[in-house]
Amino acid sequence: MLEKIKQLKEELENISVSAKQEVEDLRIKYISKKGLLNQLFADFKNVEADQKKAVGQAINELKEFAQNKINELKESFENAEHAGGQTDLSMPAEPLRPGTRHPLSIVRNEIIEIFARLGFTVAEGPEIEDDWHVFSALNFPPEHPARDMQDTFFIQKDPDVLLRTHTSSVQVRVMEKSQPPIRAIFPGRVFRNEAISARAHCIFHQVEGLYVDENVSFADLKQTLLYFSRELFGEKTQIRLRPSYFPFTEPSAEMDVSCSICGGKGCNVCKYTGWLEILGCGMVDPNVLDLCGIDSKKYSGFAFGMGIERITMLKYGIKDIRHFFENDVRFLRQFESTI
Ligand code: PHE
Repeated sequence: MLEKIKQLKEELENISVSAKQEVEDLRIKYISKKGLLNQLFADFKNVEADQKKAVGQAINELKEFAQNKINELKESFENAEHAGGQTDLSMPAEPLRPGTRHPLSIVRNEIIEIFARLGFTVAEGPEIEDDWHVFSALNFPPEHPARDMQDTFFIQKDPDVLLRTHTSSVQVRVMEKSQPPIRAIFPGRVFRNEAISARAHCIFHQVEGLYVDENVSFADLKQTLLYFSRELFGEKTQIRLRPSYFPFTEPSAEMDVSCSICGGKGCNVCKYTGWLEILGCGMVDPNVLDLCGIDSKKYSGFAFGMGIERITMLKYGIKDIRHFFENDVRFLRQFESTI
């Protein structure tokens, strides 16, 4: 009997099938009610007592082996069916969709390109900063609310280790390291302790710009921003500057561009004002120049800073800032770019 079991196992080991029906035939032959295995179990009563142990073990092993083998064959047919029946290896592969650039990268690159044409280079700095580069060197008084926990993410309990709240920190780093003429922009990620909504996020991106040289004037700032706005939003774009306040610029202004959606006539995007606020700017406060090791009697400069999310939302008509961070491919696939 042991000999017979061995034979059956060998037969199973070498078996090959070419159709699903053959697997079913195998199942009937081996493990159905009237199959070979049940017959073996029936014959088991006639086995000599001293062989019972070995034969019993062998039958059980064969049963398990047959079951596994049949399941395996069945699965291989099911998988092939799933892949569209018999796999035709000469078929061309499913095309792989190439990824697209993130809309924030597209707009950031566009901004970098525009300023590159005016001779601005790109500089970057760390996201984890210290108080000096984010606040003190930029003329923030000690009690300024931006230093508050409500606005700034501190790392652990050390008030000198924090996530930068603006990319102006890179302005400080560049001025500390080099002497005028300085003409650079600073793109990067910034962090503020804000409640997340359709219009605000605790993580977003800015591009800041800085120009320091002899005789840099407010007129230079205006002309630079006008050129930038027309390159980005179209040649008919108008700009207007409104007086504002930042600790590190004097005088300071906020800049609006004429609404690119209604052309300035008024629509729900510009809230019927015809204008969209896009950046803050001003002449670098002489105090800041001196704190960063630049002689404010000899040099003057301008700076500006804008949020990339806001500009991207305006450019593409995106209504909710949270789309940028959700990585939903249905959103991301809509942006194709050559940059
Ligand atoms: N750092 C300012 C902000 O984050 C923007 C700004 C930059 C304003 C440079 C003036 C000059 O809001």
